Amino acid sequence: MSTIREVTHPAVCILGGSGFLGRILAARLATKGCAVRILTRDRERHRAELILLPTLQLIEADVFDPAVLRQHFQGCDAVVNLIGILNESRRARFQRVHVELTETAVRAARASGVRHFIYVSALHANTARAPSYYLRSKGEAEARVSAGVGATLHYSILRPSVLFGPGDSFLNRFATLLRLCPPPVFPLACAAARFAPVYSGDVAAVITRVLCAPDSYGRRYDLCGPRQYTLLQLVRYTAACANIRRHIVPLGSTLSQLQAMLCQYLPGKPFTPDNYRSTLVDSVCQDDNSLQQLGITPTPLESVAPTYLCRQNSRRAPLYRYRQQAGRMSPP
Ligand SMILES: NC(=O)c1ccc[n+]([C@@H]2O[C@H](COP(=O)([O-])OP(=O)(O)OC[C@H]3O[C@@H](n4cnc5c(N)ncnc54)[C@H](OP(=O)(O)O)[C@@H]3O)[C@@H](O)[C@H]2O)c1
Repeated sequence: MSTIREVTHPAVCILGGSGFLGRILAARLATKGCAVRILTRDRERHRAELILLPTLQLIEADVFDPAVLRQHFQGCDAVVNLIGILNESRRARFQRVHVELTETAVRAARASGVRHFIYVSALHANTARAPSYYLRSKGEAEARVSAGVGATLHYSILRPSVLFGPGDSFLNRFATLLRLCPPPVFPLACAAARFAPVYSGDVAAVITRVLCAPDSYGRRYDLCGPRQYTLLQLVRYTAACANIRRHIVPLGSTLSQLQAMLCQYLPGKPFTPDNYRSTLVDSVCQDDNSLQQLGITPTPLESVAPTYLCRQNSRRAPLYRYRQQAGRMSPP
């Protein structure tokens, strides 16, 4: 007889729980009454946004230290690893942050008697075939998860397309860049790249659903939003919502690569050669979208994005709200 049973209110440790997706997930789990432990490099920085959640512990910890992880995983049913970087810096390399940290966390989870390890990777992550180091390192991390779990620890892997939602770093970043770019022209690299943006709340719902659910063990979930867009459509839409007038000019591949080479030296690295290579594979679901298989209806971008892209104090804000209510907020 199988000894696997479903845990209804799992105690969960979240690595990267202070981030964009982590904060939404933590709030969801805490509201459900789950005990949530978040390990962070800087407790003071994230205190204000997380400390008020009931049943949540925010702990400053060195997440690269196996002994520290083992200590904080004690008593947890599940570990969720959300730690990820989009670009490398001198101190944060993809190999260390994606691959080695994930492997260390899996080992620590196994040693601490954790039952379920959930890793949030990225759509089209692939050790060998992915064009960018970001996607290859995510693929390598996936491989370390599936190879490292053993008999008592189970894994699930989530592979979302780009996330949208209040506080996202995708549409909000383009809104910022559009504002910073002097009018009238905004040169856009990789304009034909395709995305199926998925709502952060839907991804948090998937994690909540699969947590300690035996039928999710050993599975990978590709997660996409309900529609596909080119980057050009998304940036035009962002400009329209945020009421920014720019003529958006698509760049060819040579100029896109040149822009990436230059922008990697700007503060915050808004665009890098590795980002450019990531866009060479369309971030859309090839087969079925796992959201639907899990019974979650993907949230349309148009029902959420205007609520945070449209400046609340702009003269056009009420107009956008009316258009949204009338179902007329679709990308150009
Ligand atoms: N956002 C997207 O569009 C998207 C799309 C596909 C996949 N994903 C993946 O989904 C996961 C969650 O994404 P997110 O947008 O919520 O990420 P995020 O907001 O950037 O947060 C990630 C967290 O990782 C921790 N972190 C960052 N750099 C680190 C480093 N060098 N060493 C140790 N910890 C570090 C930070 O925690 P502390 O500062 O508290 O230590 C941060 O809060 C990531 O793995 C990401 O790759 C995201």
